[in-house]
Order: sequence, then structure tokens, then C-alpha cells
Amino acid sequence: MTAPTPAPSESEALIRSDVDAYLLQHERKDLLRLLTCGSVDDGKSTLIGRLLYDTKMIYEDQLAAIIRDSAVHGTTDTDFDPALLTDGLKAEREQGITIDVAYRYFSTDRRKFIIADTPGHEQYTRNMVTGASTCDLAIILIDARYGVLEQTRRHSFIASLLGIRHVVIAVNKMDLVAFSQTVFENIRRDYEGFAAKLHIADMYFLPISALRGDNVVDRSTNIPWFDGAPLLSHLETVPVSGDRNLIDMRFPVQHVIRPHLNFRGYAGTIASGVIRKGDDVMVLPSKRTSRIKSIVTFDGDIDEAFAPMAVTVTLEHERDVSRGDMLVHPKNVPHFGHDFDAILVWMNEDALKLDHQYLIKCTTNLVPGTINQLQYRFDINTLHRASAETLHVNEIGRVSISVTRPIAYDSYSQNRSTGAFIVIDRATNGTVGAGMILERGRSVQPRQDAESKPVSDNIRREGSLVTNAARAKLLRQKPATLWLTGLSGSGKSTIAQALEQHLMEAGHACFVLDGDNIRHGLNRDLGFSAEDRSENIRRVAEVARLFNDAGIIVITSFISPYREDRTSAAAVIGPERFFEVFVDTPIEVCEQRDPKGLYKKARAGEIDRFTGVSAPYEAPEAPVLTLSTTTLDVAACVARVLDFLKQRSLLPQSKDESTT
Ligand code: ADX
Repeated sequence: MTAPTPAPSESEALIRSDVDAYLLQHERKDLLRLLTCGSVDDGKSTLIGRLLYDTKMIYEDQLAAIIRDSAVHGTTDTDFDPALLTDGLKAEREQGITIDVAYRYFSTDRRKFIIADTPGHEQYTRNMVTGASTCDLAIILIDARYGVLEQTRRHSFIASLLGIRHVVIAVNKMDLVAFSQTVFENIRRDYEGFAAKLHIADMYFLPISALRGDNVVDRSTNIPWFDGAPLLSHLETVPVSGDRNLIDMRFPVQHVIRPHLNFRGYAGTIASGVIRKGDDVMVLPSKRTSRIKSIVTFDGDIDEAFAPMAVTVTLEHERDVSRGDMLVHPKNVPHFGHDFDAILVWMNEDALKLDHQYLIKCTTNLVPGTINQLQYRFDINTLHRASAETLHVNEIGRVSISVTRPIAYDSYSQNRSTGAFIVIDRATNGTVGAGMILERGRSVQPRQDAESKPVSDNIRREGSLVTNAARAKLLRQKPATLWLTGLSGSGKSTIAQALEQHLMEAGHACFVLDGDNIRHGLNRDLGFSAEDRSENIRRVAEVARLFNDAGIIVITSFISPYREDRTSAAAVIGPERFFEVFVDTPIEVCEQRDPKGLYKKARAGEIDRFTGVSAPYEAPEAPVLTLSTTTLDVAACVARVLDFLKQRSLLPQSKDESTT
């Protein structure tokens, strides 16, 4: 791309006068990675061009040139050749298994940006998946003349699967619809209707004209009815640092560096978390432990490094470590095994072959593996699950995968680096699929579900002389179970209690089932293994069902970390009565709140299998409601739930109706 000549910005002036001061300021700026998606003519390139041109920013490559020119070339007098650090990365590229995504770098005075530019519309989904997996934010472009299209839904769905928490829905070409507010509002309503089934924490709707520059960098005078921030201000201020996983240290070894007998280092990019000199570490798969002796970088040794830095570490002990191994903290280990479930996006013209051997690449680990089962395929328009024989190009489904050697992995919702993988065709060496790991390898085991039979054939069900309709009439409500799921400290109990109080005051019979309470009585025999948690949820589902049968509205407040358990609960309670509500609070926030001091204990290794720290949490794929407690207070969360109940006619719209 040829760079336009921007007028000098504050940064540029500073570079000219004091490059060191600029570099320092620049280093401290945080980084936003974003992705633009849209169909070919939606104006993606125009938008990027407009953004780059109007910002008068400094291109990163220009900056690099400036640094090169002004740097005093000196050599370090060590016996260690830093060039070795990058060799591993080169090898990666030579293998031809990385997909070409062009990254554009730019910065403003407030933030640095990387735009993953995914060229080529035929391969769009595939490019999007690879480009998006590290992104914080996605801009979804909609042509104001056409509104929400299948492509829009597909991209939004993929963005949500990829765990992108911030989405900007840019309704473009507003100039071609006479800057009509009605057009914009209709598109917004349409999109919200669809996106309610997705898990996107933060959606920002914005009317723009990329071609004319309306609401891109400067506020548009043509759109006086819109009082939100223009695109760039939003990108500069959207809070993203809390979205990153700085907790679970995962260091996949990419390259073993052994220039001579006195040095043995392990090079790679830190996938997540922080490594400190002196940290105890465990090597997977051998499970041998050691301690970090040094952290080596281009600029010499450092005491601490964090994701996504590329570093070389040395250990205090001689350990057998090779490419594909992973260094972790012994008190915070990933899953380790052969089998997992995943959401797979198929990217190849040749359809997925079940039971065929592919290569699976997860972090730096490349292992042969097969896709044993396609559990369902998503219908992109409705997000419904449909049974299918295979996945064709651009289709998305849930699969079970087995690999021939055990690998270390996390669920994608917990860790976007160690929970992602690609599928490579052995014959062509091309990437044919990309996936996000869901499970802990348990789904292959038989499940107890709603169909499970009692232990003896001599137990029969008894009927009732009272009908559900009669109970509903007496209580003037339809029973339902609002199933609140979320991390410990996310706010489930607080919301549940406030909601219960509100419903009672409005004259509705309801009851909260809360994890901590039920675990004092009915479930006091259960701990926190995956199996015990499943049993916990199974019993609670049975109790909720009984309450619902009695006509009472139930609000449950359980972490219920496993999707599969929640699906079983829905089957027990009945899909027409079960409503999954995701109390969506990032782990960093839960940990900051730490109302019971449990995160602190868990970090200190005093609590085993603590959700979010040393046990997984699988966020809902399609909750009926997502309550983001970082943006909504308790009253607003309650209001959302009440609105939902009214919308579904579970509660009367007004008091008058309730008395008729
Ligand atoms: S669930 O995972 O089986 O659904 P549940 O909601 O019943 O969990 O209980 C979670 C509560 O138990 C937490 O709010 C916390 O107070 C407490 N707790 C104690 N140990 C753990 C643990 N290892 N993981 C999660 N929560 C724990």
C-alpha cells in the first residue's frame, strides 16, 4: 500500500524533536488488535484507507525506518547469538502452514492498532478465522442499502465463537440512504434480534460513510441524530486490556536453542500469562519440574515477560524439553490428553472426512489426529443445530477429535492460544480447518440424561389430579427456570436475590436455588471434580423441575461450568421452561472483587480445581440473555431479565393483565 502523506501529528513532531521520548511514550501505549469483516463491496478497504489517512497517524513501518536511521549501531558482546531466536519462526513459515493474513499497523497518540486485513472474498471465512483469533475487536460492515445479510450473520457468529468481546456494527454507505435514521434503526433492530443468540459482550452500532468520512475519524454533520462517538474515538477508548489472559502461564516451546554446550534455551512466544525469573515450572508432557533461571531477549536478560512476548528461557536443571512441549506453572496446569470436543470451521473445498487422519496443530504441537464424530452443524441463519454427515467449505459444527499423542490444551473460552488449533491435510500440507476446543475430553463417556431410567423396573410414575393449567391459573404465572451461569464472583447470587425480591414484590411465587446453600444440604456430599459438579447440576435440575411442576418460578445460581451439564439440565427441566442466562464477568473482574477471598486462596494453591483458575469454565454458546456486569448494575440486570420474561409472555406485560 502506498502511504498517503499525513499532516504532522503530535507524535510526528515529537519524533522529530526527541525520538527517545517518543519511543518511550509509544511503548507504553496499549495495543488494540482489530479485524474488519464485510462482504466484498461493503467498503472494507475504503474504511481502512479512510481510517489510516484521516488519522494522520504514524505508520509503524515508517517508525521502524526512523528508528533504524537514528539508532546507533552497536554490537552486544555476548556469546549468545540473538539471531537464533527468530529461526524457529522462519521454519514455521517455510512449512507453509500459516495462512496469509496481512497485518496493518498504525498508531494514534492514544493507542497502537493492528488491523488484520483478510484479503480475498472466496476464502473469507477461512481468512477471518485465522486473522481473528488474536483480535480484541471486530468491525462488521453492513451496507445500509442491503441490511443484515447471511454473510453478516456468518461473520458475527464466527466473531463470537472466536471470543471477540467487542463488536462494532458499522452501517456503511449512509450517504446512499440519505443518512436516514429509520434505515439505521431498522438494521440495528434486525441485528440485535439475531445477535441476542450470540455471546457478544459489547456491541456498538455506528452509522458511517467510509467514502465520505462521516463518523470515521470526525463526527458527521450529516448525521445529527446520532450522538455516539465516531469510529476512531471508540477504537481508542474501548477497554480491552482486561480481556487478555494474563493468569494462566503457558509457554509452548517452539525451538530448542543449543549454540554450544554451555547454553540450552527454549524459545517461543508466551501464549498467555506471565513468566518470572525464579518461577517454578513444569514441563509437559514429561511433568518434570524445574525453575526459570533466566529470560533472554534481544535486549538482554529480563526478570519478567508476558504474553505475547517472544523470549528464550533457560532452566536451572537439565530437562529433556523439545519443540511442542509446554512450560506451565505446576499449580496451574492445562488439560492433557488425547480427546477433546471442539467447534470446527471447515475451510477446504473437499469436505471433511470423518475418521481420516489429518494433522492437528495446537500451539507448537503438531500431531496426527482424526475427527471421529460430527455432533451437529450450525445453521448460520438461525443458529440452530442440525444433524449432518459432513462439513463443507465455510460450514461450522461441533466435533469430537482424537489425537495419537496426548497434548496440553485449554478450552478456548479460557485461553484463546492454547484452546485453538488448525487441521492440516497430510497430502497437501494445506490448512483445511480451524477449531476452538470446548471440552475436557469427557464427552465420549456415557451421560446421564433426562432419559435415564430408575434402578428398578418396579418403580412406576404416579399421576396427578391437578393440571399444570390449574396451577398456572392459581399462581397467575407460567413456571420457568432462569438458569444463571457464570464464574464464582460474577454476580449470580446478587442478581438472583434481587430478581427474586422483585418478582415476589410484584406478586409472583419464585425461589432461588443457590450453589452455596444447596451444597450445605442436599448436595453436601459433593465436591468440585467434573463428575461431582455434573451430579450437583443434575440434582439441582431435578429440584428446579419439581418447583416448576408446582408452578413456581425458579432462579438457579450455580457456576455450572460445563456446557454439557447445562444441556442435560435443560433436558430435565424441559426446553420450554429452561432459560440460560450468562452472567458474563471477566475473570479479572471476579478476581478483583473476590467476595469470599477464594481466588486468592486458589492462586496460592489452597483450593483445588477452582473454576477459572485451575478448572475450566465453558461459556454458553447461545444463552437467551447475557448480563455483562461490568457495564450493567444489578438493577439493570434485573430489568433485562424482567423484560425478557415479559417478551416471552412468562410474565404479564402489565399489572392489569395479572389480575385478569
Ligand atoms: S458448580 O461448579 O458445581 O456449579 P456451585 O455453583 O455449586 O459450583 O458452587 C460454587 C461455589 O462453591 C463457589 O461460589 C464458591 O463459593 C465455592 N467453591 C468452593 N470450592 C470451589 C471450587 N473449587 N471451584 C468453584 N467454586 C468453589
